[in-house]
Amino acid sequence: MGVSKLPELRIGGHVVRFPVIQAGMGVRVGTGELAGTVINEGGIGVIASVGLGGFTATAGKGYVEESNKQLGVEIQDARRISNGKGPLGVNVMVALTNYESLVRRAVSEGVDLIISGAGLPLRLPGYVNEKVALVPVVSSGRAAELLLRIWKKKYNRIPDAIILEGPFCGGHLGFTVSQIEHPETCSLDILLRDTKKVLARYGEAESRIPLIAAEGVNGIDDIERFISMGFQGVQIGTRFICMKESGMEQAGQEIYIRAKKEDVVVIQSPVGLPVRVLKTPLVERIAGGKKEKFTCNYKCLHTCDIKKVPFCIAKALLSARLGDYENGLFMTGCNVEEIKNTMTVHDFFQSLS
Ligand SMILES: Cc1cc2nc3c(=O)[nH]c(=O)nc-3n(C[C@H](O)[C@H](O)[C@H](O)COP(=O)(O)O)c2cc1C
Repeated sequence: MGVSKLPELRIGGHVVRFPVIQAGMGVRVGTGELAGTVINEGGIGVIASVGLGGFTATAGKGYVEESNKQLGVEIQDARRISNGKGPLGVNVMVALTNYESLVRRAVSEGVDLIISGAGLPLRLPGYVNEKVALVPVVSSGRAAELLLRIWKKKYNRIPDAIILEGPFCGGHLGFTVSQIEHPETCSLDILLRDTKKVLARYGEAESRIPLIAAEGVNGIDDIERFISMGFQGVQIGTRFICMKESGMEQAGQEIYIRAKKEDVVVIQSPVGLPVRVLKTPLVERIAGGKKEKFTCNYKCLHTCDIKKVPFCIAKALLSARLGDYENGLFMTGCNVEEIKNTMTVHDFFQSLS
């Protein structure tokens, strides 16, 4: 392998050879296998904790325990694949009803980082020990400011890195619909500038917090662009869906490979945020005002009003993972058309050298 021109990334006490965080993608796309393989190649591997209990829990009762158990299995898988090396992170969405329980389980399993967004993780430091690096995800300087203020006052902690998600990124979006329609008002360079201003006001330690760009990274050119803008690294979601080691089954990956730019739309999610997805029959039925038939065995989201939402997002994400085009919700970033084939994590990281 040649010597990469890309800088290393340092978060907390951890240093990785490539400035790349693999996004923890639910439901079971960002698995222990994907995370462990990314660690072996010199990036930060992240397991998505959302929805893990939904595979086996049949009634509401078992969901929390089953989610914790399955998270433990994924963490052990990643550790086995990477021979116990790190850094290994777990992504936990604030909107989850079992948020605290998942964070505590991840910490007790000895993970190196907790990455947390889809809401502001204001209480996160209260659930962890000093050893775990904390990486909140935000989409504005104001959100970063609020988080810094509360963490400092209540817990005397500062983030070990901050991920800034831009308006073109995949999954749930921390923007209003009108901001998404005018991405020039909330672009990553604006978010970077605003967040840097906030950090500088807080002090020396804060101004050194690594900032990570999340949006549309396909390869080395995008990473170099973000590094030259002033970011310390990137988080990659969409490009990793079609890795051979990802949890997305082949039938699902083929749907992403076929997708064109014009198939990408934004809809309202039961999470209470806009979400970027592929326009599939499910999405068209919802857009046409139809309500899907579903039962709720476990209330996984604080924000979900079962009587009002037109579909169950957990069920739709599980269907997507299996490649069910009719009923699946395929979360995606704007760069999906760039995905022309599946590849191995090894080949991806080789291309960064
Ligand atoms: C299929 C998919 C699933 C995702 N799941 C999660 C998740 O569980 N938690 C989370 O914080 N972000 C999630 N995201 C957002 C990613 O963490 C990441 O920030 C984003 O995908 C980066 O943009 P990109 O997709 O353009 O690379 C997901 C994104 C995708 C595409």
